[in-house]
Amino acid sequence: MTHLRRRPALLAAVPLAVTALLTAADPALAAGPVGTPGVGDPYFPLAGNGGYHVDHYGLTLRYDPGTRHLDGKAVLTARATQALTRFDLDLNGLKVTALTVDHVKAGHRRDGQELVVTPRRALRKGERFRVSVTYSGTPGPVTDPDGSLDGWIPTDDGAFVAGEPQGAMTWFPANNHPTDKSSYDFAITVPEGRTAVANGVLLGRRTAHGRTTYRWRQAEPMAAYLATATVGTFQVRQYTTRDGIKVYDAVDPREAAAAGPVLAKLPAVLEWGSRLFGPYPYRAAGSIVDHAPNVGYALETQTRPVYDRAPDLSTLVHESAHQWFGDSVSLTSWKDIWLNEGFATYAEWLYAEQHGGDSAQAAFDALYARPAADGLWAFPPGDPGSGANIFGTPVYARGAMALHVLRTTVGDRAFFRVLRAWAAAHRDGNGTTAQFERLAEKVSGKDLGSLFATWLYAQGKPNRP
Ligand code: ARG
Ligand code: ZN
Repeated sequence: MTHLRRRPALLAAVPLAVTALLTAADPALAAGPVGTPGVGDPYFPLAGNGGYHVDHYGLTLRYDPGTRHLDGKAVLTARATQALTRFDLDLNGLKVTALTVDHVKAGHRRDGQELVVTPRRALRKGERFRVSVTYSGTPGPVTDPDGSLDGWIPTDDGAFVAGEPQGAMTWFPANNHPTDKSSYDFAITVPEGRTAVANGVLLGRRTAHGRTTYRWRQAEPMAAYLATATVGTFQVRQYTTRDGIKVYDAVDPREAAAAGPVLAKLPAVLEWGSRLFGPYPYRAAGSIVDHAPNVGYALETQTRPVYDRAPDLSTLVHESAHQWFGDSVSLTSWKDIWLNEGFATYAEWLYAEQHGGDSAQAAFDALYARPAADGLWAFPPGDPGSGANIFGTPVYARGAMALHVLRTTVGDRAFFRVLRAWAAAHRDGNGTTAQFERLAEKVSGKDLGSLFATWLYAQGKPNRP
């Protein structure tokens, strides 16, 4: 375990020539420069892969909810960031039946969640290349370190598809880490009467021989975990907002009565977010409300969050806020997850405060009143310690508390400038906690070192600010 964890990070950090020396003794690596099996994420060492960047995924899928069989073809357009005689994709389960690199058959083998690809000819640094993977099987979810399921989760009428943090690899071969963001095209074929909902804009829908193909395009860069291809029997509603955002809502009829009034607020919530955080980052929006009682969470799938049941308004606000914080500004490392969850939770507090509910101060005070032994204080949000804690209460609640302390320290004017500057500076990109801290100090002109040390990194319940 230690060996597996450490080596990718080490290799990623040292120059190629040194890598070659270090690995010369390993016959499997002696042939030439190879891409690492992970990007060096401390919590998910095999997530993503080194040596290339994926510009675009073209995913062609066909799913039969009756047999739960998936046929897939993924065409990845990528760029080598180093010379490569071999590289990995992440793929969990499923059977690969054909694989080419630049239209030439390439060697491939499976090694756990790694799909190891050996192109006929080595790739040069900077070279663009195209990988085509044909695969099939019965996809299922992965179990996360906290025991929850993510990925392709079959339902009674289709599948709930949500990949945070690891599950993208359960349904397509991916460079499965938020540091690699790409555009996507989807063509998903399902039995007539079912609907397949992915990210972005619906390009078209065509029915032939009892099957319907839905074509979706996610033009703005997206991390693999935010991709969805949720399938079900859905009521669909489409409209365009005053700001020109194309909305597509898909709702399981069993959830329709409860979901209707909440989804109707989406345009107002996005306008509210745009005023507070800066322009909504995408041309498309909407909601997927499934009936998946075994899932237990919603996910901010890009442009179109997926809910396992009818959401309440606070949850809709939370997933909407993630479009700025998490989706447009993505993590660089999973340990920084508070940048997603603390921000989305604080957005819920702000929304309540500005719509006749409790003030953010009241929300803070109610949490602060919890005893020192409460789970809220079990670990600091800036350093959750392991992948098992990334969705723990401290990440959400104490993460939001940290933002509230920042707000009361720098004042509303500077605080909201920080939020907007953060969304603008890292739009369609990535950020780190350290970058956020520096930005907050720059915008506010204050030394915030001890504030962040206390609220993000100190063990136990901090003293009242
Ligand atoms: N990011 C989701 C949210 O809006 C939670 C995802 C939980 N995923 C999981 N595998 N448990 O808070
Ligand atoms: Zn969240």
